[in-house]
Amino acid sequence: MGRRRDRRVYLGSHPVLFALLAATRRWPVRRWGRTVLVHGTQAYQDTLTRVPLDRRAGTTTGGTAQRLGGSRLLFDEDGAGHRDSRRALVDTLGSAGVARLRPVWTAVLAERLAPLATGGTVDLVRVAAELAGATTVALLGSTADPVGLAAAARRVAATAAAEQLPGLRRPGQRRAARAAAGELTALLGVPADEVGRAAMLAVAAVNTTVAAIPRCVAWCADDRLWNAADTDDSREVLVNELLRVTAPSPLLPRVAAAEGSADGCPVRAGDRLLLVARHAAQAHRQGPDCAAPAPPKVAQLVFGAGGHACPGARLARVQLADTLAALAPYRPVVVRSRVDRRAGLPGWAELTVRGTT
Ligand code: HEM
Repeated sequence: MGRRRDRRVYLGSHPVLFALLAATRRWPVRRWGRTVLVHGTQAYQDTLTRVPLDRRAGTTTGGTAQRLGGSRLLFDEDGAGHRDSRRALVDTLGSAGVARLRPVWTAVLAERLAPLATGGTVDLVRVAAELAGATTVALLGSTADPVGLAAAARRVAATAAAEQLPGLRRPGQRRAARAAAGELTALLGVPADEVGRAAMLAVAAVNTTVAAIPRCVAWCADDRLWNAADTDDSREVLVNELLRVTAPSPLLPRVAAAEGSADGCPVRAGDRLLLVARHAAQAHRQGPDCAAPAPPKVAQLVFGAGGHACPGARLARVQLADTLAALAPYRPVVVRSRVDRRAGLPGWAELTVRGTT
């Protein structure tokens, strides 16, 4: 049941693209002209860790980062510059940093989930957006309104995805992407030399969280996995399995900067690479299975791999764990779900739950 509902987020947003990816997934690597589809676990890992990638190509996440700031912003950085700016962020998002930020989202959860105690309903997409916006504001020291910031970050990702993913370009798309980026940077209220980096972080943090939390909650509710959310140890396994099967950032568009190889298949400079995190993490094969979870090395591939792997993974896991812990006593069920057809990442526009206890 959980898997059946979750499929709708792919079919509703990019049906042709995901049908193509499903049809080719039996090949670990599949070339299509200058586009290389990378599905296999080993091939995905090799590409992210061994193939030199052009971090500033226009049709990649790094390209979006450039539009946001014009300066260098992690996703589009290489070498020593990347190492320095990444080290600072990894410190901020380490265990002490996450512990410092935690009261911000637990306060949002306590307030917004309260209606469940009196038989009311809650839309988890709204909760996730506020939680992500409030966390990002605290992380950046921004003066923005959390809900407004989350909405602006979601518009940036929606317009960027339309440009990055294969398919027909609509007229005015590039203009819409620039306008959305301008709106977000104007909102942030951080010093001018930090705006680009702050905007990129806001986009990375908000969109993944708004996609991940409602999809994980829906799957947990549909498969009645709430027992596993009751204790710390089993909740940790549940979180890893739910993130693995939902693979919130399912497709990483990249461009090869030089020759390399992915699981033995040659990659040429300039090849457009579509890295399918969802298949690399074997989301389509099995689970979520808390009794026999996938090995951690496979599960963590939904956060990428190598020098650019997601620095927000710990934060994302703790936020999801806290959300599941806060919901579990009510044993919620999904009463309404509506796909977000425009979002940057496959997800719900509405995911309303009601308690059953
Ligand atoms: C479930 C939630 C999340 C998922 C699935 C996710 C996934 C990813 C993936 C797949 C990448 C690309 C990794 C690569 O190229 O190897 C990435 C990069 C990144 N993520 Fe996340 N992410 C999540 C949450 C977050 C959060 C909450 C933050 C910030 C607070 C964040 C910040 C970043 C940044 C800054 C990068 C770029 C790192 C670099 O280029 O060095 N992410 N994420």
